[in-house]
Amino acid sequence: MIAASIRAKILVFDSGLGGLTVLRALMKQRPDADFVYAADDLGFPYGPRPESEVVALVMNAMAALIGSEQPDCVVIACNTASTLVLPHLRAKWSIPFVGTVPAIKPAAEFSATRMISILATPGTVSRDYTRDLVEKFAGHCDVALVGARKLASLAEAFVQGEQLDEAEVAAEIAPCFVVSGERRTDCVVLACTHYPLLKEQFVRLAPWPVHWIDPAPAIARRADHVLRDRRAEGQGGFSFRYTSGAKPDEKLRAALQKILPARAMAEKATAQP
Ligand code: DGL
Repeated sequence: MIAASIRAKILVFDSGLGGLTVLRALMKQRPDADFVYAADDLGFPYGPRPESEVVALVMNAMAALIGSEQPDCVVIACNTASTLVLPHLRAKWSIPFVGTVPAIKPAAEFSATRMISILATPGTVSRDYTRDLVEKFAGHCDVALVGARKLASLAEAFVQGEQLDEAEVAAEIAPCFVVSGERRTDCVVLACTHYPLLKEQFVRLAPWPVHWIDPAPAIARRADHVLRDRRAEGQGGFSFRYTSGAKPDEKLRAALQKILPARAMAEKATAQP
């Protein structure tokens, strides 16, 4: 008997290139899937924007992308958007949406000192959704909500080859490191998908070693579960889109090569305005 083969198509969306850290995990989990990555370069950065603007940007981008791509599943690879727009998206479209939200539960379970920090954009730390997660899962912990104003933009520029000001990075992560008597922070949640792009720097610039939690593998497992009935032989394809319709340039190719070297996507990336 020949096993059914249906190739899944996954649309991965972020305001910028941070969601590529989630795409990397998805490609590892589901090499057989077709991937479309979309970056909302018209809206980046989402972090400082009012909630109503983020909702409008994501809903508009999704209307165009879902219409043209017809994906089987959408991964919102952005905490700033997911903590806000998932209910709106699910009300409008019936395809499955997998979100990326701060990994507060695993951090609270892992922490031995019961002191955790959530490193995110100013938008994500101000959300009711985030505060509800803290209340629900981390009531026994001291939680520092750290809204970093510049980190996403620093990561976005760095991954495209620009010089990184490490003093700025150190200043942005400094509030994550808290001492209280004999106890100190032992767990920092990377609650913005751009931040794993700077993890090497975070580890080096941290005042003491902590456990950095990146939710990407868990998101990939969730998407895999959602698409468990759609599997195919061989490796799927990949394309990249900017919401502005801009064509991928050298900087983007460098970023793709850096983040997704295993698939050497740079040559294959195509723009489809
Ligand atoms: N990558 C996005 C996140 O996970 C935020 C970047 C931005 O400010 O647009 O929150």
